[in-house]
Amino acid sequence: MARKKLDFRAIIRLDAELSEIQDLDILLERILLEARKTVHADAGSIYVVETAEENGNSVERLRIKYAQNDTSKKGLPPGQKMIYSVFTVPISEKSISGYCALTKKLINVHDMYNIPSDALYSFNSDYDKRSGYKTISTLTFPLLTSDSRLLGVIQVINKKDRKGNTIPFSEDDEFLITHFAANASVALQRAYMTRMMILRMIKMAELRDPKETGTHVNRVAGYSVEIYERWAYRHAVPEIERERFRDTLKIAAMLHDVGKVAISDVILKKPARFTPEEYLIMQHHTVYGAGLFEDPQSPEDRISRDISLTHHENWDGTGYPGWVDPETATPIKTDADGKPLGKVREEIPLSGRIVAIADVYDALCSKRVYKDPWSEEQVLAEIHNLAGTKFDPELVDIFFEILPNIKQMQNLYPERQ
Ligand SMILES: [Fe+2]
Ligand SMILES: [Fe+2]
Repeated sequence: MARKKLDFRAIIRLDAELSEIQDLDILLERILLEARKTVHADAGSIYVVETAEENGNSVERLRIKYAQNDTSKKGLPPGQKMIYSVFTVPISEKSISGYCALTKKLINVHDMYNIPSDALYSFNSDYDKRSGYKTISTLTFPLLTSDSRLLGVIQVINKKDRKGNTIPFSEDDEFLITHFAANASVALQRAYMTRMMILRMIKMAELRDPKETGTHVNRVAGYSVEIYERWAYRHAVPEIERERFRDTLKIAAMLHDVGKVAISDVILKKPARFTPEEYLIMQHHTVYGAGLFEDPQSPEDRISRDISLTHHENWDGTGYPGWVDPETATPIKTDADGKPLGKVREEIPLSGRIVAIADVYDALCSKRVYKDPWSEEQVLAEIHNLAGTKFDPELVDIFFEILPNIKQMQNLYPERQ
């Protein structure tokens, strides 16, 4: 009983913490981590509901967003993140998570390999066979809005006792997790709203510039967070600072080209390469974008402004717009001809240096009106070649270190056909 009280307090504290996280993906990852901590689960997965088109009908499925596994993580070098396969499951009795989504009820299974014969769901052990990890006890529960709309499903796996033995989840665990799920759902709904607003801003930019698609900005933001996390690990950035920065970075990176809304249609929608004059006008999207984020007190505005302004600066100082005042676009530092000097090396904020790599990588991998996608080999050779000229060489190193995570992110947000 004493332990239950303690854990319950932790849930209340957590509620306040979760309400500070703005980004949906980061929130999902954190919710899964905390759900596992609450009931001492070795592993777990979090799924969200998505609508897909199937034979002309729209059907809801569950898409896995994060999988965590302490046992598998122990086998990885420090700082490395687990790679998991991205898949969707139907909302049906074919799987426990699907059945949980269907019935919106918590399911506590003591032994997955001995499911009672009268159970209405089944267990597919293929994943265990592929991963070599044995799932024994599971607690699967829905994340519901106050009006019972399904947001997602969490499955926590293999409860550990103090000695590290796997045991079934208890009735106390069911009670704790039900309260946890209610709080997590409130935070999730709020993050969905923030995400919707930002996606609308991006949709506006997309209406003006069809090259800048929703999937592109999602991928760029995802790659940026992956790069930042490894950088922060290398530089021993404290966990709390790391979490705050990456949350803001994610949203700000999505908005990197939002300044394009201020560029003329004639240029934006030109189905060919720009002339040198058009290219010069196009470059103004950096300053226009920065001008949208006015409050220097807010970390969200500051990082969004940094990214908009500097994602086309080059490490060697040859990028644009250089040293200009984002409010007035007047040069601050100039060369002999009165042109703004380019920002060099660490004069470019970390967030801008990170998004620069993420944006170029994604553009090279994608089809554009004036070019086909490059082969993976060509793209990687180009990124490698640009270390120290266009890109921060340390970030290029990091990029190659985490390439598997980058590719996984590519699968999370595939290009629309
Ligand atoms: Fe840009
Ligand atoms: Fe972009």
